[in-house]
Amino acid sequence: MLEVTVCIGSACHIKGAYNVIQTFQQLIEEKSLHDRIIFKSGFCMKLCQSPGVAIVVNGEHHCIDAERASDFFISELEPRLRKDI
Ligand code: FES
Repeated sequence: MLEVTVCIGSACHIKGAYNVIQTFQQLIEEKSLHDRIIFKSGFCMKLCQSPGVAIVVNGEHHCIDAERASDFFISELEPRLRKDI
């Protein structure tokens, strides 16, 4: 099970957190991965100065470009979600 939290603090909101959430939700649905992921939002992760939206994946912090949320999901999250299938 992968736990993914997207920051919805004000800095990340401005950088496109809502787009990241929408993109991830759409891909989780399309790929029928909802039973393999705990997907949630969280408040400021103290990474506001980073050039992207802060997310935490099983305790690892990442900052992603909201425009590339789909690429991040496919290259970083999907392989981990499918690892045990
Ligand atoms: S608002 Fe997202 S890390 Fe601070």
